Amino acid sequence: MDFDTELKQTVRRMYDAAARKSGGLLSRVPLNRGRELLAGLGYRPSEFEQLPKKVIEFAFPCGNPLPTIRKLRPESILDLGCGSGLDVGILAADRRRTIKMIIGVDFSRELLAVGRRLQAGPAAGRLQFLQADLTALPFSGTHFDCISLNGSFNVIYHKAEFLQHVAALLPPGGHLLINDLMLREDLPPGFTAELTNWTWNVAGALFPEALTSMAAKASLSLVHFYEHEQIPPVCRGEVLLWKKK
Ligand SMILES: C[S@@+](CC[C@H](N)C(=O)[O-])C[C@H]1O[C@@H](n2cnc3c(N)ncnc32)[C@H](O)[C@@H]1O
Repeated sequence: MDFDTELKQTVRRMYDAAARKSGGLLSRVPLNRGRELLAGLGYRPSEFEQLPKKVIEFAFPCGNPLPTIRKLRPESILDLGCGSGLDVGILAADRRRTIKMIIGVDFSRELLAVGRRLQAGPAAGRLQFLQADLTALPFSGTHFDCISLNGSFNVIYHKAEFLQHVAALLPPGGHLLINDLMLREDLPPGFTAELTNWTWNVAGALFPEALTSMAAKASLSLVHFYEHEQIPPVCRGEVLLWKKK
């Protein structure tokens, strides 16, 4: 089995196991979870407390894309690696917004089962979920004003190819928003060869400059890079890219 396939299998099993509470790789990672994690990332209790408890419990965001998405005022959003549906659930429940369609995609059947509970709530009607591999998306055409990845970009192994595919789903002027860990120092030699170093988004982290130049080859230009928190050798960051007109 090649590295890419093995990585996908490991990550999918890890998140399925996390949603079943059976632990897996996750049990060894000392992470904040639930309300504490979300509040620390700047999610407002008034928006996440309305979600089903399991959506909060099984959310693993790397950042908070909501303030940026709100500023962009998109009509259609694709959340790649939506997990239990945290971001899509909050956005779809907000009736004041112009959003007409939100699709969350993930390959974890168990996390999607949690997310689908949102379709019975105030988000019903404009929220859909799809189980698929982010590197083999069943879409063609440019249906999405905004594509967001919150914690899923770094576990993609072939990033340049992936950016090309994703850029093809954006109309000119559309936005790609990535919240993930970014490199601030070189990783130790041999680090990226270990599969387990990929699963929690560290081995797949890029320097912001490397991501920007990879994105430029997919006709995506940098709008902003925010560094939210230093966690050497990485930082938690947000990159907003714009498809050239
Ligand atoms: C760090 S979690 C973030 C989940 C969600 N965005 C959140 O904020 O709770 C990363 C998610 O990406 C999904 N994922 C990773 N690689 C994927 C792939 N190749 N295809 C589909 N989903 C993928 C995982 O199943 C997991 O739900």
